[in-house]
Amino acid sequence: DKGNYRHFMQKEIFEQPTVVAQALGRYLDPNAGTVCLPETPFDLANIPRITLIACGTSYYAAEVARYWIEQLARIPVDVDIASEFRYREPVYTEGGLAIFISQSGETADTLAALRHAKAAGQHIAALVNMPGSTMAREADVVLPIHAGPEIGVASTKAFTCQLAVLASLAVKLASAKGEINSNEEAGYVKELNHIPALMAEVLHHDEALQGIARSISTARDILFVGRGIHYPIAMEGALKLKEISYIHAEGYAAGELKHGPIALIDEHVPVIGIAPEDSLFDKTLSNLQEIMARQGKVVMFSDSETKQEGMFAQLKMPSAGFLSSAILYAIPVQLLAYYAAVEKGTDVDQPRNLAKSVTVE
Ligand code: F6R
Repeated sequence: DKGNYRHFMQKEIFEQPTVVAQALGRYLDPNAGTVCLPETPFDLANIPRITLIACGTSYYAAEVARYWIEQLARIPVDVDIASEFRYREPVYTEGGLAIFISQSGETADTLAALRHAKAAGQHIAALVNMPGSTMAREADVVLPIHAGPEIGVASTKAFTCQLAVLASLAVKLASAKGEINSNEEAGYVKELNHIPALMAEVLHHDEALQGIARSISTARDILFVGRGIHYPIAMEGALKLKEISYIHAEGYAAGELKHGPIALIDEHVPVIGIAPEDSLFDKTLSNLQEIMARQGKVVMFSDSETKQEGMFAQLKMPSAGFLSSAILYAIPVQLLAYYAAVEKGTDVDQPRNLAKSVTVE
């Protein structure tokens, strides 16, 4: 049931504060200030290496999680696209943990990679939305994301729930290893708990995003750029846009533009900059200025209050910490894609050539 919404995708975007709160409710004990995971048949304090494997949007969740796990828990993390993983004859580390991220729990490539890692003796975790799925059955430990059924083919709420669970996992790994103390853990739990309220705040920008989407929906190509943990959000934005609006889009690390893609820029190419005011802000901003100097139409999503000369549009985001920021910036890129698709009149919930669950390799 779509309720008052025009599409399931729109409903699922607006449901995010609720379902992310639900997901976090299963993993956090706010009173104790701790993260609680299901029992694991291996020691969380002694994981030499983590491999994250997934496809599509779930793969971008893995890319974000790499920043959290490496920075908080100081465990080396590899991230792989499932369809590439086993063909490159990966070198496994003994005692390593392989985490498979999949909304459906049935994606053929991800499942095949899971079986490959399992046969090699890795510990297997499945982060899925469907608790009865094949991946959940074959894993040593299941981390459900509790997003509820996702009907729109384009993944939205499953993505932010995956991120919420992965952020919780990163905190748990860090505390198990002694990289953070109990005060720090409680601080992160508090930050995580506050995410749904901030998400609701971001959703209030609905109309502004609709306006921006209208003005870029005639473009043939759109670039999304970001740095650090927001670089995967740029890639997710590009994926969302191309799959439902059929506008060609690419996500790029902002610093990489000058090594090629800047040649594409002219007054017809909108560039969406994901640019929170963090330690990388000045660098991202200077990359965006290079685009404006070449007549690129820059739209910046940022918590920075400063009005930037020559920018086509700026969207004011709430300020957020290391665990919340990427989750919050997922929302405006989803809404931008959604409204661009509505503007173009595409079949938003059932985009052409795509299936909700890809069960062929
Ligand atoms: C994009 C999208 C796909 C899926 C991918 C993996 O919006 O929905 O890219 O993310 O097919 O699916 P799961 O997560 O079910 O393995």
